[in-house]
Amino acid sequence: MKMVIAGKTQVCGVIGDPIAHTLSPAMHNAAFKHLKLDFVFLAFKVKTADLENAVRGMRGFGIRGLNVTMPHKTAIIRYLANLDANVKFLGSANTILNDGGRLLGFNTDGTGALHALRENGVNPEGKNVLLLGAGGAAKAIAYSLAQDAGALCILNRVPEKAAVWADALNRVFGKKIVGGALSPSAVQKNLQDADILVNATSVGMHPHVDQSLVAPQWLRPDLAVMDIVYNPVETKLAKDAKAAGARVISGVEMLLYQGAVSFQIWTGHAAPIEVMRTAALKQLGRDELK
Ligand code: ATR
Repeated sequence: MKMVIAGKTQVCGVIGDPIAHTLSPAMHNAAFKHLKLDFVFLAFKVKTADLENAVRGMRGFGIRGLNVTMPHKTAIIRYLANLDANVKFLGSANTILNDGGRLLGFNTDGTGALHALRENGVNPEGKNVLLLGAGGAAKAIAYSLAQDAGALCILNRVPEKAAVWADALNRVFGKKIVGGALSPSAVQKNLQDADILVNATSVGMHPHVDQSLVAPQWLRPDLAVMDIVYNPVETKLAKDAKAAGARVISGVEMLLYQGAVSFQIWTGHAAPIEVMRTAALKQLGRDELK
């Protein structure tokens, strides 16, 4: 069935800068088409100085929903009428729902990561998790994991960021959550007791595809490894983990499930995951050929 854009078509989109390589239009348009929903999804390049105008535009045009990406995830908060509990805690939103002019803010990064783990056979409940990174995505993942995991260790290049976030989570969840410096020895040591390793740094991302924060010999078959980097689809860390016999969850999975949660918020329908995965991988393949 062809997608027909007409008078009643509802508009969703993603705002960010840069935005040209976003996979969201491919994923969401495939999902709308599959479920025969009268929606269309567009990418909008919005500069920092234009964020307020973009929000006014969302209201003025009656755009139903937006994903918000770099560099607007924190700045967007001040324009939203109502914030989900995790948005308040994180101070960043990646999803907006326009409910008759009231803009509601959500953050689906953490829930997306949890779904990605669970749907790929990894239950973090009671598990020992090692998280690399304390940037925006890492903080959202830590917040979601902290609720389920038995223990969580956050290591970051700038150690203060990991320590501050670990303390903040400890105050809420009262669990064994520690933060520290991302040194090779700390990664090696903390990996010894870990069940799940998550790379939430940008290390390994195109064009630095031969980089990894984890030496291959530290990886084991009883480890689950999730990398949030999705370009390339298989990072050096993912390749090394696979070679070590570990269970590997690619960054495409997190992207997919955070998108799926946003899709449900905007449409009220459960997202067709397989359709969205196929569309995202196809788009990634096209981008790689360029
Ligand atoms: P995102 O929104 O994707 O999380 P971000 O907030 O800029 O992006 O966070 C990037 C993360 O990757 C941070 O944890 C960053 O570490 P610092 O906080 O110390 O800057 C981490 N990172 C980026 N390049 C890195 C590198 N070469 N080695 C280690 N960590 C790196």
